[in-house]
Formats: sequence, structure tokens, C-alpha cells
Amino acid sequence: MDLVLLEKVLLGLFVAITVAVVVSKLRGKRFKLPPGPIPVPVFGNWLQVGDDLNHRNLTAMARRFGEIFLLRMGQRNLVVASSPELAREVLYTQGVEFGSRTRNVVFDIFTGKGQDMVFTVYGDHWRKMRRIMTVPFFTNKVVQQNRHGWEDEAARVVADLKANPKAATEGVVLRRRLQLMMYNNMYRIMFDRRFESEEDPLFLKLKALNGERSRLAQSFQYNYGDFIPILRPFLRGYLKMCKDVKERRIQLFKDCFVEERKKLNQTGGSDGLKCAIDHILEAEKKGEINEDNVLYIVENINVAAIETTLWSIEWGIAELVNHPEIQEKLRREIDAVLGAGVQVTEPDMPKLPYLQAVIKETLRLRMAIPLLVPHMNLHDAKLAGYDIPAESKILINAWFLANNPNHWKKPEEFRPERFLEEEAKVEANGNDFRFLPFGAGRRNCPGIILALPILGITIGRLVQNFELLPPPGQDKIDTTEKGGQFSMHILTHSTIVAKPRAL
Ligand code: HEM
Repeated sequence: MDLVLLEKVLLGLFVAITVAVVVSKLRGKRFKLPPGPIPVPVFGNWLQVGDDLNHRNLTAMARRFGEIFLLRMGQRNLVVASSPELAREVLYTQGVEFGSRTRNVVFDIFTGKGQDMVFTVYGDHWRKMRRIMTVPFFTNKVVQQNRHGWEDEAARVVADLKANPKAATEGVVLRRRLQLMMYNNMYRIMFDRRFESEEDPLFLKLKALNGERSRLAQSFQYNYGDFIPILRPFLRGYLKMCKDVKERRIQLFKDCFVEERKKLNQTGGSDGLKCAIDHILEAEKKGEINEDNVLYIVENINVAAIETTLWSIEWGIAELVNHPEIQEKLRREIDAVLGAGVQVTEPDMPKLPYLQAVIKETLRLRMAIPLLVPHMNLHDAKLAGYDIPAESKILINAWFLANNPNHWKKPEEFRPERFLEEEAKVEANGNDFRFLPFGAGRRNCPGIILALPILGITIGRLVQNFELLPPPGQDKIDTTEKGGQFSMHILTHSTIVAKPRAL
């Protein structure tokens, strides 16, 4: 028997024994587990259900197995909850029990084993980080201090499009310019800094490293090592890539942004107004957090804030291009309320109910994080009368909650009017457990306070200044979805024609 074969046999034996021990442990405890497909040894349900557990596949499974079901992905338990009642139970009533996050080898690398806030377990560290991040990022004062910056960034997008004759004729990939805008929106809050153009070398470097981080973390490529721990040695190359990206990225945050800001403060070069990182550095000075925590806060904002909001803007524009009558109705609302040519600003939002409805409808049909960020129970728990073994990954299929025909009228239609008619009381802040684009409860998205006005300003300004159309020869743009471990964005960053309006 050659060595490779022997290694494989031993490996197989080891797996079989491990599985037998785990199964007997579960049986020994007489767990009443949620329903689900019958698992096979070693692989569980993995080979049956595959890697891509996106919101649509999980919706099909919920129709088959019910509002709670269990998948065994190798050694990992994955529980999927698909009703508003269960969402309330997980996120709110039992918010402490289910308030942790799953981690895996890849996320452990990118978060320094949970030294961040978004992916850390529920407990003292998370509470402290969330408290420290609130004043610099998530208050109305932050909105008021930064909204002029967001309005300025949106105005620059409009000006750049108007200055580019191609935009009005053959069209441009609008996302590219909007990506620069979103980086500027967030880097102005964090560091009081902006990038001048899409070609800015530092912006390009940052964008590339953030892109690599997202690709590596959201890929299904590492599932086998996550699901079947003894296969982890085969992930060595992948994990090395993750470590390399992580180190270069954290170093970039440190050298080019945090240290630069410190220098500016020391030399009296800043304008005296505190930006977010100044507050965070104060917490470090007081000894509440360490230097790594500071850098992981920057990392968290880069992943949680920029692409999520950008995807939502991109989805909103795609739906408006494909529904010209809705686009026109929105334009008429803005003209009627503000007067032709008066540019949308943050304080105008309450006066523009149709704009708000368009945003909610985008977040409902095209949810950027359709399964929320996975939750986890640290200890054995109970849900809907079933036993949930400790450290299960809990997915709330928020997309299905918001697109279930039993709860919504013709959910497959993009119809903002629903939020002015039969769903007029439903807000995006989790006041209704059928609609949770930002989650709810303890681990909800604190960034909603920034995301909604940024969406409103950006979409409002584009629609009031341009007629947004598909490129010549096309009557619709492609809205195929692309999912990751828990993200959903548009597959093709479409070319869009932005024809300036004659005002
Ligand atoms: C349209 C844009 C956005 C969407 C759709 C979105 C959605 C979400 C969702 C679904 C969660 C997980 C909730 C849960 O697990 O129960 C989350 C968490 C989070 N989001 Fe957002 N988000 C957006 C923008 C932002 C922005 C702009 C920021 C920051 C400036 C931000 C910061 C965070 C943070 C820090 C968490 C983790 C909270 C925790 O674990 O305690 N998000 N977001």
C-alpha cells in the first residue's frame, strides 16, 4: 500500500470515528433536533444541498421542511429560521442566547479571532466595542456633522456625469463612480479624508485589498475545511492568502490613515472638528481598547458600511432603470416638493415619502444581506420546541420573510406603492419582523442611521438630474443576482445612460 493511500485510509477511519462519537453524543443527550434532510456520515447534508446556500435555495428548502430546519454541513449544524415569529424569538426574545456570531478559520484570520465588533461573540468585548463605536459613528449628531459631505459627494457624481459626454449617449458603468463616492462618504466620517479620483493610487490599493478580503471571505471555496475539520490541512494555501491580504490591509489602515491622522492632530493640522477615529483613539488612550482593536474597527467599517450601501444604491438604480414609470413618478415627487432644480438634501427626506418607499422596496426585494450576518448560540438552546446544539450557525432568511406571498401582496413585483398603502406602517428599522433588511435586536445594524440618508441623497439626486436608461439597443438591464456566504449583489455592473434633464 503506498503512503498516500495509507494516509487516506487512516484519514477515513479518523473521520468515521469522529462522526460516530459526535452522533452518539447527540443521541446520548436525546436531542430533539429540527427537521431536515437525512444526513449521511462525514458529509452530513453537504453533498445533497451543495455549497451555495443562498436565500432562494434556502427558501425552497423552507417550503419543503418548514419554518425551521436543520442542515448538517459536515460537522457543523446550520439552523435556518424562516418565519417572523422565529425571527423575533432569535433576534429579540432570545437575543442573548442567539446573539453570538459563528466564526470559521477564514473569519478568524480577518478579525484576529474576534478582536473586532461585527464578528465577535456576544459578551463584554462586543458590548464595549459597540459602545465605543456608537458616539463616533451611529448618532444623529454624526449625521448632521456629515450630511453636507454626503451631499457634496453626490453633487460631484452629478457634475462628473454631466461633464462626460459618453454618459448621455453610450452610457457608463455608474457603479465605478458611486464606489468612489461611498469610500469618500465613509472616509470623511472616519478620517476627514477623501480621494480625488477613481485613479487615486491609495484609493486603488485600498479598493483592491478590500475587494480581495470580500472575495476570500464570501467564497464557498473554503467550505470543505470549515465543515470537515480534518480536511483543514488542505486549506493551507487558501489560509496563507487570507493572512497575506489581512496583514497588508491592516498595515495600510495603520500607516496611511490612523498614523497620518495622529500626526495631523499632533501638528495642529486638523480643522479642530473631531472625526470618528479621534474618538476611537481617545478610547485607546484611556486603555479601554488596544491598538489592534482600533484597526479592527477600521476593518469593520470598511466591510460593513461601504459595499452594503453601494450594492443597495446599485440595486435601486437598476430597478428604476427597468421601471421607467416609477422613476418618472419619483422625479415628479422631488420636483413638486422641492421645486425644479433644488437639490435633495438630508433634511428633505421626511418630505419625500415616495423616495423613501422606493428605498424600502429596493431593500425588500434586493436585500444586500438576505440571511443577516449569521448568528450563533454559544450554549445548547431551544427554539420552536426543538433542541439547538451549542455553536450552531443560525440563519434568518430575512429575504424570504420579506418576499413570502403568504405575508406580502405580489412580493415578486417592484412596487414602492405598497409602503404607502397596505404596508404604510412598516419601517426598515425592524418594527415589523417581516421586514428586516438591517436585522433587529441586539446585533442589528447600527449603520441604518447613516445608510438611509445616503441612499436617499444619492438616488434622489441622480433621478432629479438625469433620466436613467439602459444602454442603446437594450430595453432592460440585467438584474441577475450574485450571492456569497451571506451577501447578495448584482452580478453585472451594468452600463447605464444618464441623460441630463433640461431644467
Ligand atoms: C444599506 C446598507 C446596509 C445594510 C443593508 C446593512 C445590513 C446589515 C445587517 C443585515 C446586519 C446584521 C444584523 C444581524 O445580524 O442581526 C448588519 C450589521 C452591522 N452593520 Fe450594517 N448594513 C448597512 C450599512 C451599514 C453601515 C453604513 C454601517 C456603518 C457605518 C454598518 C455597520 C454595521 C455593523 C457594525 C454591524 C454589526 C453589528 C453587530 O454585530 O453588533 N452597516 N448590517
